[in-house]
Amino acid sequence: MADTQKTATAGQVDPTRLPRHIAIIMDGNGRWATRRGLPRTAGHKAGAETFRRIATYCKNLGVQYLTVYAFSTENWKRSADEVGAIMSLLKKYLMEAVDTMERDNIRLHFFGDMTPIDPELRALARETDEITEHLDANAFQANVCLNYGGRDEILRAARAFARDCADGKKNPEELDDAAFSTYLDSAGVPDPDLIIRPSGEQRISNFLLWQCAYSEFYYTDALWPDFDEAELNRAIVAFQSRDRRYGGVKK
Ligand code: IPE
Ligand code: IPE
Ligand code: MG
Repeated sequence: MADTQKTATAGQVDPTRLPRHIAIIMDGNGRWATRRGLPRTAGHKAGAETFRRIATYCKNLGVQYLTVYAFSTENWKRSADEVGAIMSLLKKYLMEAVDTMERDNIRLHFFGDMTPIDPELRALARETDEITEHLDANAFQANVCLNYGGRDEILRAARAFARDCADGKKNPEELDDAAFSTYLDSAGVPDPDLIIRPSGEQRISNFLLWQCAYSEFYYTDALWPDFDEAELNRAIVAFQSRDRRYGGVKK
């Protein structure tokens, strides 16, 4: 583990300086299962439980947005069995969410291209979107990235903007950071302050490429199914020790 992260274990989370938006690459499910002699799908099941636990913890802490990478545009390369198991888990989770999100005041959004997603799952996602619209805008919001790729998101946004220009609704000269952001899946959601990647890998794997411009990165060797509240605390403490300069000069 990197030195900067070791020092963080000593500190305590300062509840007045929480990251407003945490994003997590939920990685390591397969290795977690393989190490136990279990099929990879067992790792995805355990990982889904970790998501539930960490989302609840973020909500209770007072973090406003949690964005998780659940399935990338590249993950279709996996076996049909594995892809099917991940989609079934998502379906199960969404069915529960439809019943509980209103009661728990949890907003739920999807980032990604939903067109190739199974119609039943897509309908559930639409349902959670509709419920979300009625919930308090300041309530905790979970964003699930499904068939998501940062490059794909940027391309879809660029196409939508080009269409608006062709239709005479927009002018290319008007396009700036803020205007382009409104075409992204993350429209209206602030950029992530902290991006966490468990499982020891230190790469972005096509996650939030536009939004991560000034995010702080935190890596841990823990595999996602083993990631817990203490791990999240360590990540937040590390975040709170960082000096975010945004290209300026330290005061
Ligand atoms: C992350 O865990 C979940 C998805 C990518 C869907 P992995 O399945 O990538 O787990 P490892 O990296 O093989 O251990
Ligand atoms: C990134 O993990 C995607 C998700 C966690 C959903 P991968 O396991 O697919 O990424 P690579 O292949 O290690 O880069
Ligand atoms: Mg992986």
